[in-house]
Amino acid sequence: MRIVASGDYLHAIGPDTPDTIGFEVFKPLAGLIDLTLLPPSPQTAAVESGHLVDADILLMLGQYLPEASIAPAAGRLVVVARAGVGTDKIDAAALTRHGVLLFNVPAALTEGTAAGALALMLASSRQMVIQDRLTREGRWDDRQHHRGREIYGKTLGVIGPGRIGGELIRICAPFRMRVLAYSPRLTPERAAKIGAEAAPLDRLLAESHFVTICAPLSQETRGMIGARELGLMRRDAVLVNVGRGPIVDQTALTEALRTRRIAGAGIDVFETQPVPKGEPLTLVDNVVLTPHAVCDTYELRRDVLAAVAAELQGFAAGRLPANVVNAEVLDSPAFQAKRRTLIERVGRKT
Ligand code: GLV
Repeated sequence: MRIVASGDYLHAIGPDTPDTIGFEVFKPLAGLIDLTLLPPSPQTAAVESGHLVDADILLMLGQYLPEASIAPAAGRLVVVARAGVGTDKIDAAALTRHGVLLFNVPAALTEGTAAGALALMLASSRQMVIQDRLTREGRWDDRQHHRGREIYGKTLGVIGPGRIGGELIRICAPFRMRVLAYSPRLTPERAAKIGAEAAPLDRLLAESHFVTICAPLSQETRGMIGARELGLMRRDAVLVNVGRGPIVDQTALTEALRTRRIAGAGIDVFETQPVPKGEPLTLVDNVVLTPHAVCDTYELRRDVLAAVAAELQGFAAGRLPANVVNAEVLDSPAFQAKRRTLIERVGRKT
């Protein structure tokens, strides 16, 4: 089973080796899986179709996957494994048309991302980055201008209370927070099950001290938080976004922070990534910024690749992954034929 891993793994490997960022999980599967890491390529680039020739499986970190990359390889390519949760850079409809199954491994990211969101809540409300700077710069007496705000007993608003939002609510329990949750189809019963009260978006915005965005990017969520919504928030509120950048109007957010319309923000995801130098949001002081890395730990990378490896092993043995993103592909004759061929080929080898 020939797997190629997208070039952004090597592009951003830094001082690590493929093994230390989780690829060692494939070693025991050497008889089953023939793995190639594609040459370094940034996340702003699409996967090159030329690299997919002869691949059965594409393992995607965070690059783009448009139809142009998929079509020439679709004769053999049968699965795209998203080593993460978001699939907004992948043309899932084109994969379906070409008989390629797309799956992701959301459970492996839940804890790491929720912990990252909590870190941003605390870092923003306690003004930690700015206080770090004061300490280094010998500006001790300036600390009274950058006093923190408490998290205990406050109201937590969770937009997108799925796996990550639910875990965030769970780990915030010791802070005795009142929790409001919003998603368009959230029922009061489901909200109660995760320790929240279902609230309309406007009410959540108006009442929460911490508004956290844990939702994926979709037609429904794109641009969901703009100037009007920021204008509904409390003046002492903090906005945290670990979902996707385009859910928030970044210009409106920058203005709300600059004018102290809201107290602060902790932002991991941006309208444009990488964030261009000089981007206005980077010039305001009441925001803590992380480069879409809030969940990027050694442990999480290992867990993600272990989950992918287990799903691929299962696929070769005739099982389907737990989280198929484009379920319609299961009816595609092209997919069914490629799947049968792969299972037979692997069966002959093992
Ligand atoms: C991270 O942002 C992911 O979607 O995997």
